[in-house]
Amino acid sequence: MKPLNQKTEQITDSVIRRMTRISMECGAINLSQGFPDFDPPQCILDRLCEVVKEGPHQYSPTWGAYNYRAAVAKKVSMFMGIDLDPDKNVLGTVGSTEAMMATFMAIMNPGDKVVIFSPYFENYAAQSLFNDVEPIFVLLNPPAFTFDANVLEEAFKDPKTKAMLLCNPSNPSGRVFTKEELQTIADLAIKYDVIIVTDEVYEHIVFEPHQHTYIAALPGMWERTICCSSLSKTYSITGWRLGYIVANEELMNRCKKVHDFLTVCAPSPLQEAIVVGLEQPMSYYKELQAHYTHMKNIFTKGLKDIGFTFTEPEGSYFMMVDISEFANGRTDVEFCEELARKVGVAAVPGSSFFKEDINHLARFHFAKKDETLYEALNRLADIRKKM
Ligand SMILES: Cc1ncc(COP(=O)(O)O)c(C=O)c1O
Repeated sequence: MKPLNQKTEQITDSVIRRMTRISMECGAINLSQGFPDFDPPQCILDRLCEVVKEGPHQYSPTWGAYNYRAAVAKKVSMFMGIDLDPDKNVLGTVGSTEAMMATFMAIMNPGDKVVIFSPYFENYAAQSLFNDVEPIFVLLNPPAFTFDANVLEEAFKDPKTKAMLLCNPSNPSGRVFTKEELQTIADLAIKYDVIIVTDEVYEHIVFEPHQHTYIAALPGMWERTICCSSLSKTYSITGWRLGYIVANEELMNRCKKVHDFLTVCAPSPLQEAIVVGLEQPMSYYKELQAHYTHMKNIFTKGLKDIGFTFTEPEGSYFMMVDISEFANGRTDVEFCEELARKVGVAAVPGSSFFKEDINHLARFHFAKKDETLYEALNRLADIRKKM
């Protein structure tokens, strides 16, 4: 056989999915891969039952069913404060994953560079590799996970830098960037003519007093921002694979071309069923925030009581926990494997998210029912005995 694609040779198994496999093997509570163990809102499930009988069951228009795009446009306009046209500014995608891949394929040329904060969501490295794009990683320094504006400027200054991929609220760090931090990024993007590609899948999971700012809405940024987001987290439907791109018409037209040939369309019955979710009043988002705050409070209080130190999450449903006290000479990878097998709780080794040599952290997620979180904490309380 002739050699297969060299890039796929370089990709290794996802550490997160490996931890999920280990977790299943040994019956651990899986706080590694981030998905809720509770159901989506009942009104969405009821609507799905109706759609099963009524349809649609065939392809939707490539850009997304009109009512799906109209509902996304209305909801995003309300939060972002930009008046969106469903035909010109919204593209329905197969999750944020496709949104970001289609965006990269639409705007990047081989040899271009992209600025990415480290620690980062693992998809970003793969999507850069597949597009022959070189990432320039800029450290978010733990435990506060803040960046050095001078280091960031150096990355923007590189004439090959075409874009920055900005995850906000951020997985895995739990950071929600302040308006001032985003203004720093926006100023650099304008100064060095760089496009910002956002990943805002956790836009509605933000803990008070923190607030999510859409960088696209800062002065001069609508011209140069491609917003990628998802319904996975906002409506607890990670398996439905629904997301979207929001951008100005010029950038959007490029993304549409890729999406057309990449996936044709997102699942049409699910687009139809989620419209009722997208049309929820503001109170839905307040309740979602309250629910996630409740889960975060249970988990962080429990960890504190056991004696863990960690960075308080500002948003998303992830947190980075310092494992130094419990590692006893183990690497973070060994620590997480043993934690799953001996204590019965699965987390992700922090080093898998960092470009730098940082390996004293583990990422836990807390999008779980109260009883799941309490059981995980019960098990973690034995960590000193069992490890
Ligand atoms: C930061 C981030 N972006 C994107 C995704 C994937 O989103 P989607 O389900 O919309 O493809 C995830 C899922 O965990 C994530 O954490």
